[in-house]
Amino acid sequence: MNDVRVAVMEDLAGLMALEASFQEGQRWSEESWRSELFGPRRHVLVCNGRSGLDAAATFSLSGDVVDLHRIVTSAPARRQGLARQLVDTGMIWAQEMGANRMLLEVEATNAPALSLYESAGFHRIAERRDYYAPGVHASILERHIPSVEIRAVGEGELS
Ligand SMILES: CC(C)(COP(=O)(O)OP(=O)(O)OC[C@H]1O[C@@H](n2cnc3c(N)ncnc32)[C@H](O)[C@@H]1OP(=O)(O)O)[C@@H](O)C(=O)NCCC(=O)NCCS
Repeated sequence: MNDVRVAVMEDLAGLMALEASFQEGQRWSEESWRSELFGPRRHVLVCNGRSGLDAAATFSLSGDVVDLHRIVTSAPARRQGLARQLVDTGMIWAQEMGANRMLLEVEATNAPALSLYESAGFHRIAERRDYYAPGVHASILERHIPSVEIRAVGEGELS
């Protein structure tokens, strides 16, 4: 199984290569990924592949909320548990940062992503109609994060 690690500047090319997984018009620019890599209260996680990166996710902390900004696995590396590993590792970071919930936006018809998030304990709290484009709606999902103190006594484990 691939190890999850924190991204470094040298991963920028690999992160850009992963953007090919998104439709044109939904791809992030190099500038966007640079902002994730260097921005304050950001956390970019990656999984190495044989050549380049197999998967990546980026999180940002804002008050007591961590937003999952983006998650992607290259097409050949899907259904091997990489995205789930990234979410779980990001969740531990969020917990260590003192956040008590994680939020994300996902296209309401993105079945693989919705299934991933559901399996990771997220639930839908709202819908933003026409968020991505006319007729392309977003679902807002949330997952509660137990505090570190609770985890320390064996309750509210992250899984
Ligand atoms: C969504 C995405 C990140 C999932 O990545 P992944 O590494 O294949 O996901 P995992 O292997 O960790 O899957 C974990 C669980 O998610 C669910 N899941 C993932 N892909 C699925 C699919 N195509 N169909 C149904 N369920 C799926 C399953 O419950 C899966 O567990 P299982 O394999 O034990 O059944 C990947 O499909 C992707 O990169 N899509 C394009 C980019 C994207 O849409 N990103 C999300 C919005 S920003």
